[in-house]
Amino acid sequence: MTLLLDPVLTAADAALRTLFARPHATRLMPPPSHAPGEMSDNERRDAGALMRVNHVGEVCAQALYTAQAAVARDPALRAQFLEASHEETDHLAWTRQRLDELGARPSILNPLWYAGAFGLGLLAGRLGDPLSLGFVAETERQVEAHLDSHLDRLPLIDSASRAVVEQMKLDEARHAAQAVHAGAAELPAPAKALMRMASRVMTTLAHRI
Ligand SMILES: [Fe+2]
Ligand SMILES: [Fe+2]
Repeated sequence: MTLLLDPVLTAADAALRTLFARPHATRLMPPPSHAPGEMSDNERRDAGALMRVNHVGEVCAQALYTAQAAVARDPALRAQFLEASHEETDHLAWTRQRLDELGARPSILNPLWYAGAFGLGLLAGRLGDPLSLGFVAETERQVEAHLDSHLDRLPLIDSASRAVVEQMKLDEARHAAQAVHAGAAELPAPAKALMRMASRVMTTLAHRI
């Protein structure tokens, strides 16, 4: 019974912490390259909406890595997933801090995003370690491309958000490379297209609510 309950309790604990506790970063927030300027109300609103999308992405990253670690067959792989999830906690804390600083709210749909991503992570994990890693590699690549697009959209004056996004982009690229190095299988093209569609729905909604 304890054996059965342990993973369930660990997962429930991770979910509650992600959704309701204030995350603690182990790395300092990346410093801006130049002092942030005074933003107009519109710039602040735009930046807040984009950082809410990025915060949702990090809520999903917590759910995915926690779920995939829970069902990984290889203990070394489980440790790698948990290690990556710690770095994602920095991202979660940084994006949350930027939301606060911009006077923006996190997405009210976060419990829904967490549950959906957790389900996807379990599904990917059940397909076996190579495909689970393939799912990580593809997710991280798509997130990296998405963050790159935000560097075009974030107001130039918001150097604090831009510094966070730039560091996250570097970290996500490294997570993808680590997954490939650990033996990720390439996902079939329809699976990648489906993932792109799902993330489009999520980013469109999270931009508003
Ligand atoms: Fe991240
Ligand atoms: Fe990542």
